[in-house]
Amino acid sequence: MRIVDLRSDTVTRPTPAMREAMMAAPVGDDVFEDDPTVIELETKCAELFGVQASLFVPSGTMGNQASLYTHAHRGDELILDDEAHIDWYEVGAAAALSGLQIRHYTAPDGIPNLHAIESLIRPENIHHPKTGIIAVENTHNRAGGVVVPLETIRAVVDIAHRHDAVAHLDGARIWNAAAATGIPLSDWVQGFDSVSVCLSKGMGAPVGSMILGTREFIKRARRTRKMFGGGMRQAGILAAAGIWAIDNQFDKLVDDHKRAKTLADGIRDIPGIHLIPDPPPTNIVVIELADSGKTADEVLVALKNEGVWLVPFGDTRIRAVTHRDVGDEDVATAVGIIRDTLTR
Ligand SMILES: Cc1ncc(COP(=O)(O)O)c(C=O)c1O
Repeated sequence: MRIVDLRSDTVTRPTPAMREAMMAAPVGDDVFEDDPTVIELETKCAELFGVQASLFVPSGTMGNQASLYTHAHRGDELILDDEAHIDWYEVGAAAALSGLQIRHYTAPDGIPNLHAIESLIRPENIHHPKTGIIAVENTHNRAGGVVVPLETIRAVVDIAHRHDAVAHLDGARIWNAAAATGIPLSDWVQGFDSVSVCLSKGMGAPVGSMILGTREFIKRARRTRKMFGGGMRQAGILAAAGIWAIDNQFDKLVDDHKRAKTLADGIRDIPGIHLIPDPPPTNIVVIELADSGKTADEVLVALKNEGVWLVPFGDTRIRAVTHRDVGDEDVATAVGIIRDTLTR
């Protein structure tokens, strides 16, 4: 049975050409900062995003958490929306590693609520924690791949800086925001004190994320990365995949977005479901099943039995993600099987 794996864009496997680039990469010891391919990737990303410096790290989680740790003073507050990846899927690391206390606001559509953020900032008082960091996610995973508009992003950065806090961007899928809007990558990260971007999602590299920031911040983040056990040696083999992805894969993300829309077009009229949001803005399709009387678990098992793999996003919610290893035929197969399963 052919499997259509829509669980995540992280399931992409390196292409033969990417593997060749990895094989051919000159390497050194990156902890000694002499791996030429890592240096090339870090220089390339700094230029591409218009920042002073960047740092190659093993994962998006480390990109976020090493950034937070590098900024944090224990007991500071971190303001986040309550659907943020940092909160849901990073194993409590902001508290466990950095001693940050999280303060939430609600943003079901993934768009930061500026009024709510401003109202959560602590006034100066000996009893209060200090608001240290405000973090934003773009594109927003749990909200369905939503692109947070540039003016909202800029307003969040402005709020942080007006209140002597720093602004961090979880830009795991910032590539998708740029691909969907045509607005350059550099515009999306401008003003942030730290940014984490992933090479191992829609970009298709097997491993790796980048932290972006000032030279001074990246110098300190490099120490944090070492402390977290993320100092890698001949990492050029992995960095080569990232360079290949930037040169060859970034332009193709629009195809993933088209396929997400095709998937949505094929299923939106199924009784009892709706899509969040509709149409999907990037490569993530979130399907709410509540009105169908079905649960996420039963639907996922039935789909899996037919070779279509999705993940749960709540008791009555499931997620499909399009990516490089899913073609037009796969999407057509998935549409047919999702329709059969949900109308049975
Ligand atoms: C928005 C977002 N941030 C961060 C991460 C973490 O990336 P990783 O799985 O590489 O740790 C993910 C992973 O899916 C993500 O979706």
